[in-house]
Amino acid sequence: MTAQDQVRIVEVGPRDGLQNEAAPLDVPGRVAMIEGLIASGLSTVEVGSFVSPRWVPQMAGSDDVLAAFAHRTELRLPVLVPNMKGFLAAKAAGAREIAVFASASESFSQRNINCSIDESLERFRPVMDAAAEAGIAVRGYVSCAWGCPYEGAVDPAAVVRVSAALHAMGCYEISVSDTIGTGTPTAARGVIEAVAGSVPMSALAVHVHDTYGQALANILACFQAGVRVFDASVGGLGGCPYAKGATGNVATEDLVFMLDGMGIGTGVDLRRLCAVAVDVSNRLGRPPSSHVARVFAQTGGEGYPFATGTT
Ligand code: HMG
Ligand code: MG
Repeated sequence: MTAQDQVRIVEVGPRDGLQNEAAPLDVPGRVAMIEGLIASGLSTVEVGSFVSPRWVPQMAGSDDVLAAFAHRTELRLPVLVPNMKGFLAAKAAGAREIAVFASASESFSQRNINCSIDESLERFRPVMDAAAEAGIAVRGYVSCAWGCPYEGAVDPAAVVRVSAALHAMGCYEISVSDTIGTGTPTAARGVIEAVAGSVPMSALAVHVHDTYGQALANILACFQAGVRVFDASVGGLGGCPYAKGATGNVATEDLVFMLDGMGIGTGVDLRRLCAVAVDVSNRLGRPPSSHVARVFAQTGGEGYPFATGTT
């Protein structure tokens, strides 16, 4: 298998997946979930966020979650940080990687982080400097890359501008995000190719929500364009509190099933991952919403033995 045939999955379930749950999962529940995700082979897991607990109470206790994995220095365990206050708290909790998050849409920026796009970039600048000094890696998100819940269509030029700004500031990777899942494959590829004109393709990731059932198709289009890093959430959990009606990210197990079938390595054991999806769904009191975990649950943990294409 060549590097061309490898994909790195950034598991965002413990953060994006849980930040919108009506009944928050407690810290021991989140730690158990992350342990299961790591045991299934995921080596990059976004474990929480250091945002205002008044804005997103579900992520309170992210310091305790992070502390539980302090010894796992071989893993990448980023946490979301919106400002210097969040950075200092994340650093004190032992974060070795953070993610800053901006938007390509002004309205979403205001609703999500209470400032304009340019104000957010200025806010991140000292965070980036402090992170560089502390040896903390920084990932950057650009929300609303394919549509905004408040403004509708978003100009790809805005996505390019914000992505390039975050990359120039020092983000090692830009996660181009379909916050409300309105992208479709031609547009998915078009935006990624536009961003790749200013940020190397090797520094791009794609983060898709599956609101309209387009997530896997969009991922495939972006893979064909050259992207090799995809964000996903176990069980298809998730949504953004500031994007009404938006549903979860692409389910990690659905993504792994597709990539397994295409002969593309992820290092993830599908059965172990499905067991985590079922366990988390049980903790949240509902059946898993992903295709693959549903089959896994209904067949007593067996599923089918392969994705067609693997043999
Ligand atoms: P603000 O009210 O403008 O902040 O919120 P402020 O600086 O005026 O401070 C107000 C209060 O918040 C103060 O407390 C601060 O100390 C406190 P008070 O004096 O009133 O008691 N505060 C904090 N507390 C803890 N941690 C902090 C922090 N900062 C201030 N870091 C702020 C601005 C950014 C804080 C707020 O808007 C916020 O927390 N927003 C978070 C929004 C969020 O987490 N959204 C979901 C994640 S983004 C997402 O899901 C999209 C993504 O998945 C990609 C995609 O799909 O598009 C990444
Ligand atoms: Mg998201």
